[in-house]
Amino acid sequence: MKKWLPKWRVLSLFSMIALLLAGCGKPFLSTLQPAGEVADMQYSLMLLSTAIMVLVIIVVSIIFVYVVVRFRRRKGEEDVIPKQVEGSHKLEIIWTVIPILLLIILTVPTVIDTFKLADVKGMEKEDAMVVNVRANLYWWEFEYPNEGIITSQDLVVPTDQKVYFNVKASDVKHSFWIPSVGGKLDTNTDNENKFWLVFDSEKSEEAGGVFYGKCAELCGPSHALMDFKVRALPQEEYDAWVANLKDVKPEVATETAQAGEEIFNQSCIGCHAVEAQDGRPEQARQAPNLAGFADREKIAGILDHNDENLKQWLKDPETLKPGNKMTGTYPELSDEELNQLTEYLKGLKEK
Ligand code: CUA
Repeated sequence: MKKWLPKWRVLSLFSMIALLLAGCGKPFLSTLQPAGEVADMQYSLMLLSTAIMVLVIIVVSIIFVYVVVRFRRRKGEEDVIPKQVEGSHKLEIIWTVIPILLLIILTVPTVIDTFKLADVKGMEKEDAMVVNVRANLYWWEFEYPNEGIITSQDLVVPTDQKVYFNVKASDVKHSFWIPSVGGKLDTNTDNENKFWLVFDSEKSEEAGGVFYGKCAELCGPSHALMDFKVRALPQEEYDAWVANLKDVKPEVATETAQAGEEIFNQSCIGCHAVEAQDGRPEQARQAPNLAGFADREKIAGILDHNDENLKQWLKDPETLKPGNKMTGTYPELSDEELNQLTEYLKGLKEK
């Protein structure tokens, strides 16, 4: 038989795999890094069920190996048949009772936590922190009913308190998921689902104030690009954000921006609002509200926020996000028009 691969080859193979896997994901884009009460509960349940499964696998493997070795065919004993046993009350009781016990250990905390997570009674209180989430192909709208504002793509929330979510979809089924904080919850077209999350302030600081949100239901060609960001802020900063965004108006400082505003008002404004208190009804909100756009984490939820990417997005959204609803809704823009529109959009600040 050939010798097993030289040691250094095995070693380098393993280190390459480790390196490759280490590159997967970003910090706080994992359920294994819980950053809030809900995520903690879900993480504990995962640990508990994994521990039980591992225990079962170990016990079964040990018994299997023991039996294979103990009762193997030995030289000179080919014709010996071991003692045949049929039915054993003791064994049957043991292998019935143990799984029942394991299931009880698994069920009790799961049921308790499920009821805790589904408890949205606090939502009715006047001072409850509520966000209405509406999922669309392929963007997210966040409406703050108590604050009277609407924003998109960047969810902004206060830390260390229950934030209640009403989630729904306007076209097809999506799913609202902030891996390190909790979820996922389906967003449906025919009903509203409700749940709550808590964003831990310390973990938020560790994460640089930004968590990642995803669509977790295959919804179309750009499903994997249907990302959003979560900015978890201390209460005072959150209040300041609300106050600033409420009355924000587009800042049109230069002639270029003025020209950009004209282009915007000729076509883009049919779908995109630029004020957080824009009063149009839901059916008319066919694209992300752009109030505070210039201060968002990403463009279209996926691109780093810079002029180059913004122009690229305006020029050819289809390549960047196939199947999106902006493609083909306006004529091709010249380089000059792109500059003007970019200049205008950069004036849509949070304050
Ligand atoms: Cu929306 Cu996947």
